[in-house]
Amino acid sequence: MLINLENFSPSRPRGFLVLEGVNGAGKSTLLTKLSERLAQNGKSVVCSREPGATELGKTLRSLILEPKGDKAAPIAELMLFGADRADHVAKVIQPNLQSGRWVISDRYLYSSIAFQGFGRQLPMQAVEAVNTLATSGVLPDLVILLDLDPAEGLRRTQSRSQASAKLGEGDAFEKEALAFHTRIRDGFLKIAASRPEPFLVVDASQSQQDVFSTVWRAVEALLRASAV
Ligand code: TMP
Repeated sequence: MLINLENFSPSRPRGFLVLEGVNGAGKSTLLTKLSERLAQNGKSVVCSREPGATELGKTLRSLILEPKGDKAAPIAELMLFGADRADHVAKVIQPNLQSGRWVISDRYLYSSIAFQGFGRQLPMQAVEAVNTLATSGVLPDLVILLDLDPAEGLRRTQSRSQASAKLGEGDAFEKEALAFHTRIRDGFLKIAASRPEPFLVVDASQSQQDVFSTVWRAVEALLRASAV
């Protein structure tokens, strides 16, 4: 469900935020700024990500993103992301929310719908089934979707690789063709409009400061609602 900043009135937020978007959209920068600002507002914040938030997740992350030999079959890839998510929910997300901390996750179940469903074109029922098992019904108070032309996203990830002298060494997904990333961008927009969770869609071609100001208005509404 797309939210409107003028009348976003969340009820009983637990403090769970998810950042999503095509590769290169600026999620990491936003995550750092958000966690700093939330901490200034007196919140304990846990910054997390998928895949790779737990010990098992770190192993899964390198298996999926840096495969040594053959690439995993698409359905196997979906289940590896599902295993990572189940471990993440059980060991990081649930316990921290229960202890009153805020959790910000860089990617969550929506990435499986966008990448494995729309990108790899796996049956949506299969993606939904894995997501349902993995999340145990733990859903965010707000999903922030950084929307960006995937060609610009790929340019940004390639210039990052160049800066670290790793050109051509992008992960398994960054090496996919532009058509794949275009399906993902369009998929994310469809997910934002059709899922019941609140989605804030932000134009990520704006300056980092403008992106942050828009996002912060929505997060302030969550802070206000969590204080009542
Ligand atoms: P990132 O941590 O740099 O965003 O890399 C994770 C990559 O894995 C990114 O290309 C998106 C992809 N991915 C999926 O395909 N499905 C998923 O469920 C998740 C969480 C990530």
